[in-house]
Amino acid sequence: MPVNTPQHVAIIMDGNGRWARQRGMPRWRGHEAGAGAVRRATEAACRHGISCLTLYAFSSENWKRPAKEIHILFSLLRRYLVTERQALVDNGIRLTAFGRRDRLPAPVRQALCETEEATRRGGRLHLRLAVDYGARHEFIDAARALAWEAVRGIILPDQIDERSFERVLLSGTVPAPDLIIRTAGERRLSNFLLWQAAYAELYFCPKLWPDFDEGDFEAALADFRTRTRKFGSLSQAACAAG
Ligand code: FPP
Repeated sequence: MPVNTPQHVAIIMDGNGRWARQRGMPRWRGHEAGAGAVRRATEAACRHGISCLTLYAFSSENWKRPAKEIHILFSLLRRYLVTERQALVDNGIRLTAFGRRDRLPAPVRQALCETEEATRRGGRLHLRLAVDYGARHEFIDAARALAWEAVRGIILPDQIDERSFERVLLSGTVPAPDLIIRTAGERRLSNFLLWQAAYAELYFCPKLWPDFDEGDFEAALADFRTRTRKFGSLSQAACAAG
């Protein structure tokens, strides 16, 4: 693996609606094409030796969309989980999802559980889908969990630190993303992994998500290689210079 390849890449997949509108198609056709781009990004991540890929598939704010669009998004997600399951297994890809499950349609919940179970031994790439996920809700849940631990005497309020907070975050215990990519030219995080993004490198790509291809993925990785990551410290060169 080349030096400075990110271990964990996260993507805010944006622009499906605009892609469809530009072609005079209904929005769902953009989401359908977006599902194809999910497959391509996953293959690219495997080829480039990325160990974890997190995709923002459905935000907690996406419930504000028309019921018909929500229905189509979940149908596409379910179809993806069912039709790609064997390919994920064959390619050593472990799929997991994080976010609220209680509001998901039952067939989606079931397809998620079955795909998580079928792919649990995959060791090549960990593909994580953020589904009904929002960072603010994740913080509130984490604060609530720690408050209950304090009430039960499991932890003292003064013992709450970054590690205990991370332990109760919904999005799990994988290392924070090194690189966050957002497509469609928007430059914001939209309530995505706000805790974990603290030291992530951000990359904004003008292309609409359905058009995002391996070349765009490589351009993001090449840009990442030019970044100096200091995590609040100094670069090695600055340290050496005193
Ligand atoms: C943003 O485009 C994209 C989404 C809200 C959902 C992403 C969903 C998919 C890529 C399809 C299915 C997912 C999987 C994992 C198979 P937008 O609708 O906000 O685009 P716009 O800003 O141009 O309207």
